Amino acid sequence: MEGNRYLTFALGKGRLAKKTLELFEKIGITCEEMKDKDTRRLIFVNEQEKMRFFLAKGPDVPTYVEYGAADIGVVGEDTILEENRKIYEVLDLGFGRCRMCVCGPASAQEYLQKRELIRVATKYPRIAKDYFYNKKHQTVEIIKLNGSIELAPIVGLSEVIVDIVETGSTLRENGLEVLEEVCPLSARMVVNPVSMKMEHERITRLITMLRHELGRA
Ligand code: PRP
Repeated sequence: MEGNRYLTFALGKGRLAKKTLELFEKIGITCEEMKDKDTRRLIFVNEQEKMRFFLAKGPDVPTYVEYGAADIGVVGEDTILEENRKIYEVLDLGFGRCRMCVCGPASAQEYLQKRELIRVATKYPRIAKDYFYNKKHQTVEIIKLNGSIELAPIVGLSEVIVDIVETGSTLRENGLEVLEEVCPLSARMVVNPVSMKMEHERITRLITMLRHELGRA
């Protein structure tokens, strides 16, 4: 997979990056340097494949890819929907499966049914707005938070939340439940539109190999 220039990958930090590297290993692309947990280095190179990898905060991955600082990114679909960047979504990687849901105490169900003007706390204001305004036609007040979203209805900041549900244990342990499902989610590979043209052969070959590997998994 030799090319003239480095193909740069931005990977969302954490579990997604780990899963992505495991998947890449299966198709023969390794990055040993990246496995060193104590390293403070930010960028890792595979000289043989002419590939560079870096880790970024999830919401920053689409930004790096849109501006072409990374040719390819791997990030959750939630982040892609929320960031709304000019990037191509090319592959569902199948892992990181979860759901975007409206959650709250069971008692909040009637506010949804009656389409009341409620407060919705979320890390995903764009997704929440799209869901309530365009799909449900319910006027709500969106309150942006940056984490531990489940706290909001417990302490009275909002009636419901829009958040990711994976196992459901955070909800259960806090007396909350899924009230409505917004959409299913998983990890996606995204590509810069110019890179897709300039490095078409290398990128499509990579996508084909990954697709093949995922098909077998
Ligand atoms: C995410 C999400 C939920 C939780 C869902 O939070 O926001 O809180 O995971 O997972 P579960 O259904 O398996 O319990 P994350 O751990 O990413 O941290 P955050 O609260 O800071 O967003």
